[in-house]
Amino acid sequence: MSTQTKITRKTTFDIRKMKQQGEKISVLTAYDYGTAVILDESDIDIILVGDSLGNVILGYDTTVPVTMEDMLHHTRAVARGTRRAMVVADLPFMSYQVSHEAALINAGRLLKEADAQAVKLEGGREHAELVRKMTVAGIPVMAHLGLTPQSIHQLGGFRVQGKKEDAAEKMMQDALALEEAGAFSLVLECVPGKLAADITAALSIPTIGIGAGVECDGQVLVVNDMLGLYERMTPKFVKKYANLNLEIRNAVKRYVEEVKSGAFPDEEHSFK
Ligand code: KIV
Repeated sequence: MSTQTKITRKTTFDIRKMKQQGEKISVLTAYDYGTAVILDESDIDIILVGDSLGNVILGYDTTVPVTMEDMLHHTRAVARGTRRAMVVADLPFMSYQVSHEAALINAGRLLKEADAQAVKLEGGREHAELVRKMTVAGIPVMAHLGLTPQSIHQLGGFRVQGKKEDAAEKMMQDALALEEAGAFSLVLECVPGKLAADITAALSIPTIGIGAGVECDGQVLVVNDMLGLYERMTPKFVKKYANLNLEIRNAVKRYVEEVKSGAFPDEEHSFK
């Protein structure tokens, strides 16, 4: 008999059950194999291959230029490093807005060719029919409301969404429509805590907050932000759990000094 312990991967069923049982859901982004291994072995529930890779990995100002090929490439790497966590991949800008047919093909590619278990898309009830079609096709969908970075040129900047009464009511109706269409979870980004709490209470699917207060069913952060790696912009909701930027700078400085002085490689790191 095999002595190996069977590792089971989190499913949408598990994620929904966590809400019912009052267990908070932990989500971080990852874009590469090595980071995915660390997150997976640290018991993260969901790894999101976010299109934030456009900012933190590819150096763009926004997520708008990210392509399907970028998402497939990075999702494959993350999936290879993951055994326990559920892998959700972002559908990039214009991969799901042009037609439902193209959207289904693109979402299917992230599952078939890159081994994601679900996709995420941004927007409200205007995408409800698409969410329904994807769900019927067997593609679990994580929805995303509030600050939706792919629409940054329309939103006119990175700011809190749903502050006015009519905007809050619209977000609530969008959330209900997305749940009804079959979304298995909903990201709420930059939303007042009270509105996020109301939406969380109104839905049976879990909400995952980012800058949306403590009442959400789970939390997500961009891994490069929370590790203190990405310094170009730090939103108020980011808590830095490490300062890897400084650690790396110090390590590289020491390496350069030791190469220049001949202190590296020493005997321990050389062959006789
Ligand atoms: O792309 C991303 O990383 C995201 C999260 C910020 C939710 O959408």
